Amino acid sequence: MANRKYIVGNWKMNGDHAALAEAKAIAQAAAAHAGVDAALCPPATLIAPMAEAVKGFAVGGQDCHAEPKGAFTGSMSAGLLQDAGATLTIVGHSERREGFGESDAAVQAKALAAMTTGLDVILCVGEPKNVREDAEAEAYVLNQLDGSLPDVAAGRTLAVAYEPIWAIGTGLTPTADDVRVMHAAIRGKLIDRYGPELGAATRILYGGSVTGDNATELLGVDNVDGALVGGASLTAAKFVPIIEAAAAL
Ligand code: PGA
Repeated sequence: MANRKYIVGNWKMNGDHAALAEAKAIAQAAAAHAGVDAALCPPATLIAPMAEAVKGFAVGGQDCHAEPKGAFTGSMSAGLLQDAGATLTIVGHSERREGFGESDAAVQAKALAAMTTGLDVILCVGEPKNVREDAEAEAYVLNQLDGSLPDVAAGRTLAVAYEPIWAIGTGLTPTADDVRVMHAAIRGKLIDRYGPELGAATRILYGGSVTGDNATELLGVDNVDGALVGGASLTAAKFVPIIEAAAAL
């Protein structure tokens, strides 16, 4: 059975209180598509006001610390995200892995902390351009998954986002066939790791320059259970067509 589509917006370091109007419009439009799960991950400062403004719509963090509390200036635990109203968090985004030197082991610890706290997790993987050019993308991504998938039962509470780094914010996307091959490989890894039932139920999102124009094609690829969307998630005008594309499949 196909998994429910999951469309998640990652606002990165964008969005202030004025942007809550966009979140409200997105949540309202998403409510009309009961067959699709949608969520927004705003900056940490907006989690509480957004969760309050869009009750019933999922709001998440973009990262969390692996420890539940302590002297970690500037960091956010999974429990604090939950306390602010988050029901999910992204971990292992390439902008964290590359910009903040997060290893697979660090990402795994964050995923585990979030899941045991009760947050749903979107765990990101993806290859840089030179690895794709060397035809080593699949091995690279499977190796990332070996090191960063949490050792706990997955299923609905865990999603993997395949985000080729060279496709993020560039307007470039892999071909549908490249996405199909990568997502099949990721599915195989999830089944190896969690067994046939949970491995099949763990959603695999594609991310990297998803827009209303390419969503139907990308979301229609085998084993693409949703999308993680950056730039095109910042406004209802751009994000709602992606939710609608998922609903129409
Ligand atoms: P993009 O970002 O949609 O702007 O390419 C995707 C992401 O980084 O999650």
